[in-house]
Amino acid sequence: MNLKGRDFLKLLDFTPEEIVYLLDLASELKDKKKKGIPVDTLRGKNIALIFEKTSTRTRCAFEVAAHDLGMGTTYLDPAGSQIGKKESIADTARVLAGMYEGIEYRGFDQEIVEELARYAKVPVWNGLTNEFHPTQMLADLLTIREHFGHLKGIRLTFMGDARYNMGNSLMVACAKMGMHFTACTTEKYFPSRELSDQCRDIASETGGSITFTEDPGCGTKGADVIYTDVWVSMGESDQVWEERIRELSPYRVTRSIMENAGEGAVFMHCLPAFHDLKTVIGEQMGERFGIMEMEVTDEVFESSQSLVFEEAENRMHTIKAVMAATL
Ligand code: CP
Ligand code: NVA
Repeated sequence: MNLKGRDFLKLLDFTPEEIVYLLDLASELKDKKKKGIPVDTLRGKNIALIFEKTSTRTRCAFEVAAHDLGMGTTYLDPAGSQIGKKESIADTARVLAGMYEGIEYRGFDQEIVEELARYAKVPVWNGLTNEFHPTQMLADLLTIREHFGHLKGIRLTFMGDARYNMGNSLMVACAKMGMHFTACTTEKYFPSRELSDQCRDIASETGGSITFTEDPGCGTKGADVIYTDVWVSMGESDQVWEERIRELSPYRVTRSIMENAGEGAVFMHCLPAFHDLKTVIGEQMGERFGIMEMEVTDEVFESSQSLVFEEAENRMHTIKAVMAATL
């Protein structure tokens, strides 16, 4: 398997075999890191990290992984560069490709990262767009594989806003790996027809399936993984909070949802999560709407079924694998 020089923009661009290769490489790099065996084979290289939206996990994962591999990093924060405001994506791509061996981009439309990749002659990695979050998918698949020992046949139910980056990406990831994906939410929040048709075609070849339901009871019964995400994503207007809380509250992940899934089910979330009032936004929503938690209860988040922190750690090992494989 040779992925040298490839961009990592969305999982749709990769075969199931290539995805498994990246997961295996991530496992190997994780194992070496735990044993204190250095893997700094990319010494002397440098990468640029463009963040047009904020981040904790993705930024730290890229920085630590790059450092472990022996590389230097430059972080361009949402306000600290000329990108988009004074300089086009095409020009930025060609400038950065002259100085760096790889470029990470987090921002808005998928088309922006695709354009960056078209103009940069070095690998470009998608650190989250409105449509997709592919590095998160590798971490999630690795976490599921570590827990259950396999991916094929796993039943994953996503609750909440399934038409955004996380719902879309999980649907693609499940289709690619022969898993059963269910979007459990109101119809308005189902992934698009175009993407779901594409995923159904992929699933028909891998043995997976794609199901949409508005019924939390049916949608979560017997699921292996219950997954959710914030109800309002980065870049969306604060005006939508009220509507989201009203429309998505029936899809909050609670103890009864986990019980309905079954004893062996696990809870996953890409994070950050609103599971209590210990954040500025959580506190504001608590005051405005009289709620203690949003997409997941604190009880589930903190329970032994919750894999969220293993999942967060795996961001680093899998991002390291993407860089090691493509550089
Ligand atoms: N899950 C995730 O991408 O987290 P950050 O926004 O902190 O990078
Ligand atoms: N849907 C969320 C994911 C954060 C990792 C967002 O885009 O803000």
